[in-house]
Amino acid sequence: MADTFTIHLKIWRQDGPDQPGKLVDYTLDKVNEHMSFLEMLDVLNEEIVAEGKEEPIEFDYDCREGICGSCNLVINGQAHGPKDMTCTCQLHMRNFSDGDTIVIEPFRSKAFPVIKDLVVDRSAFDRIIEAGGYVSVKTGSAPDANSIPIDKTVADTAFDYATCIGCGACVAACPNSSASLFTGAKLAHLNRLPQGEPERKKRTVSMVEQMEEEGFGDCSNYAECEAVCPKGISISAIAEMRRNYVKATLAGTEA
Ligand code: FES
Repeated sequence: MADTFTIHLKIWRQDGPDQPGKLVDYTLDKVNEHMSFLEMLDVLNEEIVAEGKEEPIEFDYDCREGICGSCNLVINGQAHGPKDMTCTCQLHMRNFSDGDTIVIEPFRSKAFPVIKDLVVDRSAFDRIIEAGGYVSVKTGSAPDANSIPIDKTVADTAFDYATCIGCGACVAACPNSSASLFTGAKLAHLNRLPQGEPERKKRTVSMVEQMEEEGFGDCSNYAECEAVCPKGISISAIAEMRRNYVKATLAGTEA
């Protein structure tokens, strides 16, 4: 059995969207190196519930497998914590040491308002997808789709962009709270494929304009988004989005 160790936590607690929040201190002495970060929070919540003095800490998750993008925490100032290309749910306590102090905050952005404690509302991303993150032209059945020749490089890069899980770390890390990496990845995924090409211009303009409407900031090429992205998505997606947007707005959005 693994040895347990002690960590000190400073966790953002906030009762609701319009309530003031603050960092609250906790100490946990039942941590072991095999726990995921979320399991560590589960253990802390079990202690909080057992004590009965306050409500358990709200934090978001679903798959705990690095797929859904729900586990959005800023850990010691870094979105998803200290390990490269790793979601919070895939981060393990072996990355911390006995006696460490860990500060845990929600993803902060005007467009991601805090709902409670560490949970933020990321429905702005859903609205960007609703604005154009789909293919609505007839593409035929699966055998038809499989018979369309697609250049291997195009297929591979479209897939790379499709790995975006919409966690919002890019927004949390950006000094401008820009959603350009998320929007650029979703656009590059669809725009590069033959099935996505007919709606490329319309899709690009709609999604970029929705992103601006949601209150995200603009991109100033800090590249902090790329550094924290758990899927390693390249900021080349942003350059591609800008090129397509300029072309579409100069030429009109008709396909
Ligand atoms: Fe789904 Fe972390 S809980 S990606």
